[in-house]
Amino acid sequence: MPARGRPGPADGPVYLDYNATTPIDPRVLAAMLPYLTESFGNPSSGHAYGAEPRSALEHARAQVAALVEARPHEIVFTASGSEANLLALRGAALAAARPGSHIITQTTEHPSVLQTCRALTRLHGLRVTALPVDADGRLSPATLAAALREDEATLVSVMAANNETGALQPIRELAALAHRHGALFHCDAAQAAGKIPVDVDTLGVDLLTVVGHKMYAPKGIGALYMRDGVNLEPVVYGGGQERGLRAGTENVAFAAGFGVAATLAADDLATGEPARLARLRDELHQRLDAALPGRVHLNGPAHQRLPNTLNISIDGTLGHEILGAAPDIAASTGSACHSGTHTASPVLEAMSIAPVRALGALRLSLGRMSTPEDIQTAVTALVTAAADDTGAPARRSFPLPGE
Ligand SMILES: Cc1ncc(COP(=O)(O)O)c(C=O)c1O
Repeated sequence: MPARGRPGPADGPVYLDYNATTPIDPRVLAAMLPYLTESFGNPSSGHAYGAEPRSALEHARAQVAALVEARPHEIVFTASGSEANLLALRGAALAAARPGSHIITQTTEHPSVLQTCRALTRLHGLRVTALPVDADGRLSPATLAAALREDEATLVSVMAANNETGALQPIRELAALAHRHGALFHCDAAQAAGKIPVDVDTLGVDLLTVVGHKMYAPKGIGALYMRDGVNLEPVVYGGGQERGLRAGTENVAFAAGFGVAATLAADDLATGEPARLARLRDELHQRLDAALPGRVHLNGPAHQRLPNTLNISIDGTLGHEILGAAPDIAASTGSACHSGTHTASPVLEAMSIAPVRALGALRLSLGRMSTPEDIQTAVTALVTAAADDTGAPARRSFPLPGE
């Protein structure tokens, strides 16, 4: 177990952005180093230098498979979660080889899903339907059932957990509906895997994306689970690596790190880490609520939610301004992909959250190194930033977009 506490520089702000990325666990780094030094061989080489990297790659595949209850040969390593989503969506759509195929997804998906869908429409003439979500950001099975009755689909793609709000989707029900209508089901579990139990058989998914850097492995490694019998068009053409679906000499060091990270995540799940994080997260929420009475609004579901994620808006504040006034913490105003732009998050917009509230949103996400002291620091920093200089809670006014 690594020391809890600040993952970055000792004098850095408290890290509350684990949904953006996680620090590399020291045990993950240790597992990677041999493949960046003496065990440098190409896993495809027939000589002695290839043997150790080859077996490390297969060991890592088994470790990632175990986290989601898959079989090792059903795991394809990719260079990122975005690439795994591309392999799933483009791969399934093109392999179906039906002109005008139809993909059904929903509006709060990660841009790597939504933009891939757009590209498939632009380049291959595919039809895409993005279904609406409810006020908690969840897709109702009845909405999917109606869409499937209206128009048959090749593939349905719905994420397990939203990166901004932590909202959990009813994947099992949605996947069963897709199958009833003859469609494959892909689930982007980039945020869910390692934070909550994910079992591909219980969920009944055909394709599932997992990502290294959301679970204490480096950025630049992901994987797609692909149920036996599913046929995909490759994402990278060339040598026969990764069952011919993703050519390129394998990144053995990163795969080895990802494998260990998956095992550590499974250990965390088995030893109560989700409950520890949920307690810290709820304490943060309750203390903010108590200090700023009536001003703190939860964005996303109270219960069907990742245990580490708190997305709130504080009345009378703007997300980027409050974070600017709270240098002791590092958090996000939305998904990291949108930071720097101060338009309302499309995820919150899709949940019909009013622009004034959406612009106030803060995403506070906790992780393995989070401590009760971090919560204390965050409460002090945010309450101070939300209060005016008389010490009373500030109620500033600012123009609504379009006003
Ligand atoms: C839900 C979700 N899907 C996909 C991704 C993309 O992963 P990567 O950064 O490895 O491309 C992310 C990362 O932010 C994510 O949160």
